[in-house]
Amino acid sequence: MKKGFIFDLDGVIVDTAHFHYNSWRKTAEQLGFELTIQHNEKLKGVSRIESLNRILDWAQKEVSQDTFQQLMFEKNEDYLRQVVQMTASDILPGVFNILNKLKSKGYGIALGSASKNAPLILEKVGLSSFFNVIVDGNRVIKAKPDPEVFIVAAQQLGVINSQCVVFEDAEAGIEAANTAGMISVGLGNSDNLEHAKYVFQSFESIELTFLEQLTT
Ligand code: G6P
Ligand code: MG
Repeated sequence: MKKGFIFDLDGVIVDTAHFHYNSWRKTAEQLGFELTIQHNEKLKGVSRIESLNRILDWAQKEVSQDTFQQLMFEKNEDYLRQVVQMTASDILPGVFNILNKLKSKGYGIALGSASKNAPLILEKVGLSSFFNVIVDGNRVIKAKPDPEVFIVAAQQLGVINSQCVVFEDAEAGIEAANTAGMISVGLGNSDNLEHAKYVFQSFESIELTFLEQLTT
C-alpha cells in the first residue's frame, strides 16, 4: 500500500522557534509582559492568531481588532527579517539525508505546517523540490490540534491516513496526527511529546528501515 510521510516545518525541518520567540517577546514587551521560554513552548505548532490570543491572555490584556491585526503584522515583519537570512545551514541534523532516502524510494512526501511562511522558508533553505505536496497555514482553516492540515496532506498525496507517518515537535501537532489516525513520531524532548507513538532526539537517530516498518 502507498505510504506517505508528512513533515511539520518549524522545529522539525528547521529550528525557527527561536525566531518566533525573539519576535513574540517584542510583542509581549509592548503589552508590558515578559514572555519566557516556557511560554514559548506553548506557542509551538500554534497558529499566528492563536499565539497572539494566548499572549494577550497571559498578559491579561485586551486590544481592539485593529491593534490585534497591527501586532500580528509587526510580529511577522520582525520574524521575516530573520527568515530571509536563512540558508541550507539552518536545516536540522539528519533532515536532508532522510528526505533524500524517502524520495529515492518514491514515497509521498508532504509538508503539514501551520505557518503561512512555509513556502518561503523551504525555498530559503533549498528544500522545496523534495515535497510532492505543501499544506500550510494559507491552505487550512482549523489550526492544530485539529487534524485538518494532515488530513488534507494525506488526501493530496493520495495515501490513506493509517499509512501516513507524521513528524512533529509540538504537542498540538502530535495530537492532530493521532486524531487523524496517523503514526506520530515526535522529534525533540520526550517531556513535551508524551502522546507521540515514538520519540527521537533528531532524524540522525532514525533509520529508513524503521520508518518503512511503521506502516503495513
Ligand atoms: C508553526 C510554529 C508556530 C507559528 C505557526 C504560524 O506552527 O510552530 O510557532 O506560530 O507556525 O507561523 P507563521 O509563520 O504563519 O506566523
Ligand atoms: Mg513545529
